[in-house]
Amino acid sequence: SQPQVYVTRPDVDISGLELLRKSCNVTTWSQALPVPRDELLRQIKGKDALYCALTDKIDAAVLDAAGEQLKCIATISVGYEHIDVDECHKRGIRVGYTPDVLTDATAELTLALLLATNRRLFEANKEVYNGGWKSWAPMWMCGHGLKNSRVGFFGFGRIGQEIAARIVPFKPAKITYTTRTARPEEAAKVNAEHVSFDEMLCSSDFIVVSCALTPNTKEIFNAAAFEKMKTNCIFINTARGGVVDQMALCEALQAKRILAAGLDVTTPEPLPLDDPLLKLDNVVVLPHIGSADIETRKEMSRITARNILAALQGCEMEAEVK
Ligand code: GLV
Ligand code: GLV
Repeated sequence: SQPQVYVTRPDVDISGLELLRKSCNVTTWSQALPVPRDELLRQIKGKDALYCALTDKIDAAVLDAAGEQLKCIATISVGYEHIDVDECHKRGIRVGYTPDVLTDATAELTLALLLATNRRLFEANKEVYNGGWKSWAPMWMCGHGLKNSRVGFFGFGRIGQEIAARIVPFKPAKITYTTRTARPEEAAKVNAEHVSFDEMLCSSDFIVVSCALTPNTKEIFNAAAFEKMKTNCIFINTARGGVVDQMALCEALQAKRILAAGLDVTTPEPLPLDDPLLKLDNVVVLPHIGSADIETRKEMSRITARNILAALQGCEMEAEVK
């Protein structure tokens, strides 16, 4: 009999589902919003593989509900902090993800968010519609350019490096990065200097977060970190909301301790409409669309499917969390 695969989203690109349907019995959750926990716990029972997304928390309880035949979990994301990988590996369950394919899309979106924030695009655009645009005015809607600025990266993996490469043509004065271990070869390509977390905080005009969410990075951007930043600092996060103590960020923005923030990721997601961040003019919030480029999302769907097929056959996966 064919392997049983459960897919937690009905709306992933069909090309991935078709790959699976050639050799598997595929069941999908039927609604646009994430599958409720109790439904996931029911559906995973007896499945050989799970195709999930970052909206699904995969912990020991889910794995317990699955039973012995679950061989693989593949997430259509590069981040995998929603999956308890240790629990999976303990049970011999392999975990697949989708790095690399979304690097360029995410870097592009980060640049768009950075430019939207530093040149105040959404604020300015609103004025066109609400009558606030009275005349060209010399100092109205002025922002702060990347040119001659210092840009600091927190995390300098594939995505951070691609963001940095896109910033270089804007002629920053200096690019720095903070990582546990220096990456001299990658850094040389964009002339970036490895600095301590404190130095990055104290000296950057722009801070770009591009790290994974781990116990080490959880809420590392806290009140003390925002306190060290320059008052003209613009904070950009397209990684994970959990890296930030969001209350502290909001307070820093309200008190004008820092200038502005551009966020593609928040805590929680979606951000409630009454969240204080949404009352601030100096904040641009996007609904976690970093990799939302059509070709990218299609390929992410196919990679997720190929990861599952490889695991079911006991072969090397295209991208496996080890
Ligand atoms: C998106 O945030 C991803 O992890 O792919
Ligand atoms: C602006 O539009 C200028 O001409 O300086």
